[in-house]
Amino acid sequence: MYSTKQIQQLQKQSKELLAKGEKDILSRLDELRAALRFHEYRYYVMNDPLLSDAEYDRLYKLLEAAEKEHPELVTSDSPTQRVGNSLNKDFETVQHLVPMLSLENSYDADDLLDWDRKARELSGLETIEYCIEPKFDGASISLIYENDMLVRGATRGDGVEGEDITNNIKQVRSIPLSAPFSEYGIQQIEIRGEIMMSKASFSKYNEWLAAQNLAALANPRNAASGSLRMKDPKEVARRGLEAFLYHVSFYTKQKKDGVTDLFDTHSGTLQLLWECGFRSPQKERIIVKGIDKVIQHVHDFEELRDTLPYEIDGMVVKVNDIALQDRLGMTTHHPRWAIAFKFKARQATTKLRAIEFQVGRTGAVTPVAKLDPVSVGGVTVSSISVHNEEYIREKDLKIGDTVLIERAGDVIPQIVKSLAELRDGKEKKIVFTKTCPVCETQLAKEEGEAVWRCINIECPAQVVEKMIHFVSKDAMDIKSFGEANVRKFYEVGLLKDIPGIYRLDFSKISELEGFGKKSVETLQASIESSKKQPLHRLIYALGIRFVGETTAKTLANAIEHLLDLVNKTEEELQQMEDVGIKVAASIHGFFHNDSNIHMLKELEKLGLQFRNVKRENTSAAVLQGQSFLFTGTLNKLKRNDAEELVEQKGGVIVSGVSSKLNYLVVGEDAGSKLEKAKKINTIKIITEDEFLQLIQQ
Ligand code: IVH
Repeated sequence: MYSTKQIQQLQKQSKELLAKGEKDILSRLDELRAALRFHEYRYYVMNDPLLSDAEYDRLYKLLEAAEKEHPELVTSDSPTQRVGNSLNKDFETVQHLVPMLSLENSYDADDLLDWDRKARELSGLETIEYCIEPKFDGASISLIYENDMLVRGATRGDGVEGEDITNNIKQVRSIPLSAPFSEYGIQQIEIRGEIMMSKASFSKYNEWLAAQNLAALANPRNAASGSLRMKDPKEVARRGLEAFLYHVSFYTKQKKDGVTDLFDTHSGTLQLLWECGFRSPQKERIIVKGIDKVIQHVHDFEELRDTLPYEIDGMVVKVNDIALQDRLGMTTHHPRWAIAFKFKARQATTKLRAIEFQVGRTGAVTPVAKLDPVSVGGVTVSSISVHNEEYIREKDLKIGDTVLIERAGDVIPQIVKSLAELRDGKEKKIVFTKTCPVCETQLAKEEGEAVWRCINIECPAQVVEKMIHFVSKDAMDIKSFGEANVRKFYEVGLLKDIPGIYRLDFSKISELEGFGKKSVETLQASIESSKKQPLHRLIYALGIRFVGETTAKTLANAIEHLLDLVNKTEEELQQMEDVGIKVAASIHGFFHNDSNIHMLKELEKLGLQFRNVKRENTSAAVLQGQSFLFTGTLNKLKRNDAEELVEQKGGVIVSGVSSKLNYLVVGEDAGSKLEKAKKINTIKIITEDEFLQLIQQ
C-alpha cells in the first residue's frame, strides 16, 4: 500500500502538521486527510501504529475543527465522514452486480481428493496450484467502489439481492472510504468479504448484554450480522467490528501502462486488495501445488483455530489461476474452482425434553432446557439455560423440538434455534411457571425487565443460594464449607440463614455421616477466621443485586462502618465510581429493608469485620487516590494478588476503561481494553514490571 518513501513522507508530514497546529491548516487539508488515512490504515489494517493515540487524536481534531468552520471544504471520503448523524430508516433492497454464490463443503481428505480429481479431469492438468485461506465465520458483505470511492455496502441477502447497509459499513474502520484503484486502471469494482467480531469484542458485548439483563448471543457471527442491521450507525461503531476481504466478483478496467495485472491469480487479487488498503488474508494465505499439501495444511491450521483472535469455521481452498477458474466455471449455487473445508462442528442437534425452573439467589427464576445428552466440540451437554420467557418466544422453542445447539470456543453452550420443519405435531408449548417452583409464591416481574422473580425473601431456594454465595471463594472464602455442606446443613435443620453460619452447633455436625473430628475442626477454624475478612468481601458476600466485587470495593472505600450505607441517599451513591441509577436503587433498597438490617446487626454482634480498617501506615499508601485496571495475562503475579496489592497501597481497582482510570497494567495478549485505553490520553499504560516498580517506590 505505502512504499517506504511514502511512509517516511507521511510520517514527516504528520509531525509537521502536529507541530504547526492550526497555522496554515486550510491550505493543507488534503495532506492532513492523507496523513489520517495512513494512520488509520496502520492501526486498523496493519495493527502497527506509527503515532501515539494522543497524536492521532490531535490530528483528527485539527481536521474536524477546520471542516466545521468551512463545511464547503469537507470531502466525502474525509476520515471525519464515517460517523453518520442520522439513523438508518429501512434498509433498501439492492441487487448485487454478480450473484453471491455459496461454497461447496468438504469434511475430510476424501472429499478434497474427489474435488481435486474432478478439477484435474476438467482442466486436463496433472497438478493444480491452490491458494488456501481461512473461512472467516462472520457475516458476508459486498462492497462497491466507483472512481476510488466507496459507494455501496450490502448484506448477502438471498445472494441475488441484499440490503443496503452503507452507513453501517462506514463504521468499520478497516474498510477504507476511498482506495486508489484508479492507479491500477480500475473504475468500478465489487469486492466480497466478511464482517467479523473478534472473540474479545464478543465477550465484552455479551458482558454488556448480561448487565442489561439481556440474553447472551450464541456466537460472534450472530453478533456481527445483528450489528450490521442496527438502526443507529453510532451503535455499530461501538461494536468494534472488523473486516476481511477475500474476493473480487466484478470490475471494469482500462489497460494502464507499467501496471502489472494482479487479477491473473487469486493470490494476486488478494495482494491488490492489500495494496489498496484492505485487510485481505495476507499472513493467513498460502499457495501450494497439489491436493496432498492442501490436506496437510488445512489439518495443521485446524490446530491453530483456538489461538486466533477471531472465529473461523474452516478453510477455503481456491484454484489460484483465474483463467483456470473461468474454465472450471460454476454450478447454479457454487463455483467449481473453490471448496470450503469445514472444521469439526461445534454445533449439534438434539431433542428438548423438558423445561425446569431454577431459582437463583436474587429470586430470579430461570428456565433451563433439559436435553438428550449430546457431544459438542468435545463436551457433553444435557442442559442449557434459556434465560427468560421472551427468549423462549423469540426462539420459538417447544418441548419435543429438535434444537440446534452451539458451543463457540469458550462460550457457554446456547440454543441457536429450533428446527420447526422437523415437528410432528406432538410438541408441547412451554408454559412459564407463574409460581416459585420451590416455595410456590406468585412470581413478579418489574417493568421493563424480562425476568420473573420469587419475591419471598424467605424462599428456601433463595436462602440456600445466598448462603452458598456468602461462603464462596470470592466472597467470605470459608474454606471447606462449600455448596454441598450448605445444602446438607440446611436440609437437616442445622442452618437456616447467614448468621446461622456463625452459630453452627459443631457437636451436632460431628454426628453427621462423613464428618470426622478433624474435618469439623477445620471447618470451625475457617468459619472463625472468616470473621476477619475485610469489609469489601463482606459487602460482596451479602449478594446485593448488581453489586459485584468491584462495586463492593468502591462502597467499602467510601465508608467507615458498614451501617453508614443506611444513611446514603441514592444520589450520593450515584456519585461513586461504577454506581449507576439501577445499582444505587438496589443498594438503597437493601439497606432499607428491616430483615436485612436485622441480619446485619446479628452479624456485627457475632464479631464480623464491619469497620473499614484504614491503612495506618501512610508510607504504605503510595497509590492513594490512583485507580488501576489489569488486562491480559500477567506473568509474575496472579490477577487477584495484584489487585490486593493495589488496595493495600491505597489504590482502587475499577472495572472498565474510562477517563476515571489512571493506570492500565497490560499483560500478554491484552485485547480491547488496551485498544480503548490508547484512545484516552490521560491513562498511563504500563507493563507488569513497571507496575512492580511503581508499588516498590
Ligand atoms: S469465497 C464465489 N472465501 O463462506 C466464492 N468465502 O459458505 C465467494 N466465507 O458466502 C466466496 N471466508 O460468506 C470465500 N475466505 C473466504 C471465505 C468465504 C468465509 C464465507 C462467504 C460465503 C460462505 C460460503
